[in-house]
Amino acid sequence: MLYSPVVEAAPEDRPAPRMSGPALMVIFGASGDLAQRKLLPALYNLVQKKLLPDDFTILGYSRTPYTDEEFRALARGGVEKYSDAEFREADWQRFAQGIFYLTGNYDDAEGFARLKARIEELDQSRRTGRNRLFYLATPPSVYEPVATQLGRADLVHPVDNSPTGPGDDHSWTRLVVEKPFGHDLASAHALNEHLLSIFDEDQIYRIDHYLGKETVQNILVFRFANGIFEPIWNRNYVDHVQITVSENIGVEQRGGYYDKSGALRDMVQNHMLQLVSLVGMEPPVAFDAKAVRDQKVNLLRSIRPLAPEEVSHYVVRAQYSPGDLDGERLPAYRDEEGVEPDSTTETFVAWKLEIDNWRWNGVPFYLRTGKAMPQKVSEIAIYFRRAPHLLFDSADDPEHISRNVLVIRIQPDEGISMKISAKQPGPAVKLQPVNMAFQYGSSFGATPPDAYQRLLLDVVLGDGTLFTRRDEVEVAWERVTRVLDGWKRQEEEARSGGAPLRLPTYDAGTWGPDAAEQMLRVENQRWRKP
Ligand code: NDP
Ligand code: BG6
Repeated sequence: MLYSPVVEAAPEDRPAPRMSGPALMVIFGASGDLAQRKLLPALYNLVQKKLLPDDFTILGYSRTPYTDEEFRALARGGVEKYSDAEFREADWQRFAQGIFYLTGNYDDAEGFARLKARIEELDQSRRTGRNRLFYLATPPSVYEPVATQLGRADLVHPVDNSPTGPGDDHSWTRLVVEKPFGHDLASAHALNEHLLSIFDEDQIYRIDHYLGKETVQNILVFRFANGIFEPIWNRNYVDHVQITVSENIGVEQRGGYYDKSGALRDMVQNHMLQLVSLVGMEPPVAFDAKAVRDQKVNLLRSIRPLAPEEVSHYVVRAQYSPGDLDGERLPAYRDEEGVEPDSTTETFVAWKLEIDNWRWNGVPFYLRTGKAMPQKVSEIAIYFRRAPHLLFDSADDPEHISRNVLVIRIQPDEGISMKISAKQPGPAVKLQPVNMAFQYGSSFGATPPDAYQRLLLDVVLGDGTLFTRRDEVEVAWERVTRVLDGWKRQEEEARSGGAPLRLPTYDAGTWGPDAAEQMLRVENQRWRKP
């Protein structure tokens, strides 16, 4: 065991729960999938656990007409279906009496005047403390108009001195922005400029739901609360790092969105680069928003920028072709609904990423992500160097196992394991890999809560540590836009050669194209089988 199972603390030893004060949350796009599937179930769980107060107030806002009662019925459906907590009628009633709805457009002064009037009414009747949280759960095309209208309607307090707030009444205003935050560096920069013309950076919470996952937060605890790992967490001991985020589904009903995005924008720019930054960053001086994000930005800035002509050497992309996945036949990506028949959007990316700093120079970070792969897995594998001198000959070690691999499993089967070599019982010296393992389920007796619970609570508490800062988003986009530029160049070259580009393919239900295997084979490595 790396950690022994947790011992239940006596009540007086337990830390005080992070209970928030009163607030009003306006969900723009409240009729949509995110609100029903993630936000409302997470808020219900927080109220049920008494981490949000009973008078926490939710005001849904979107164009679809609902009365308060109709919207509550919709929300109830979402909570019953998607909440990971037990549905209890009494808790629901307590939660539902704080849910309201207003129909309106996103770019319309009249709608926002009505919104303002409704908010002020709820400020009084629900004693919100005038604390306001605006959540952009709409498609990104609506982010800018909503922010503009909020500013024009005078719904944004000028400064936010969280956690107590500014001014005489100590109230605060915060804005949560969903992904995708831009589609390249220029658009992310423009969106930042726009939002920052209305809100202060401290008021903006850019969501990356991977940062709300318990196992992702545990990367920092694992690295910085255990003295034994930091001394070996560098180029002297680590051979390379593999990060896999695979999904065993195709694009399903999201073909229209996905075809304009692709795996690089959808997964690498945000979730995977966040994982890279947490694994690779230097120790922060404190566990607070500024110190942690400063170090993450430093790490992202150390990622070697690629010139367009280098991209094909470092980055592999591919699309899935027909194949069997969990007993079902998946069509080719190009035949999915909403996808262009001649699409060059990638459903798989592998990237050999080099980090130019003292800690990681010469230690490649291999990233791979894709749809239609055999398993849904997110994990980070740290491959340590072999022992400098092996006492046992290769016949004793047929699988070359004499290398330690630390695996941080983000999902499913959340936990951490370390592969070590052991002697098989018996008269001969024969090596066999064994695992030392810690699993959330068995050690803590529960599966980790959904990421949105943690993130929503942090926003209400004014803690930005698990949200991406302006410079972080832009440096991640800067490195990713270079890859996009390289791909654009490949497409232009193919077109000028008279043959439009076709991406390499991999059969649905496999671990990706041959080129990704080759990327590691030339280095005498291979991808870990999760
Ligand atoms: P939806 O497509 O369900 O849109 C949400 C709501 O926005 C809709 O109900 C609709 O409400 C309104 N809307 C939809 N299209 C438009 C449009 N073109 N112009 C104006 N309004 C529109 O999106 P999701 O709920 O799935 O996602 C919301 C945001 O969250 C997106 O940015 C998405 O990328 C992000 N996200 C979603 C996740 C999920 O699991 N769904 C996961 C991670 C991020 P109405 O017509 O009533 O106004
Ligand atoms: C989202 C992507 O951000 O993350 C989806 O848009 C992807 O395409 C999802 O399916 C994966 O999240 P998780 O938490 O299921 O790993």
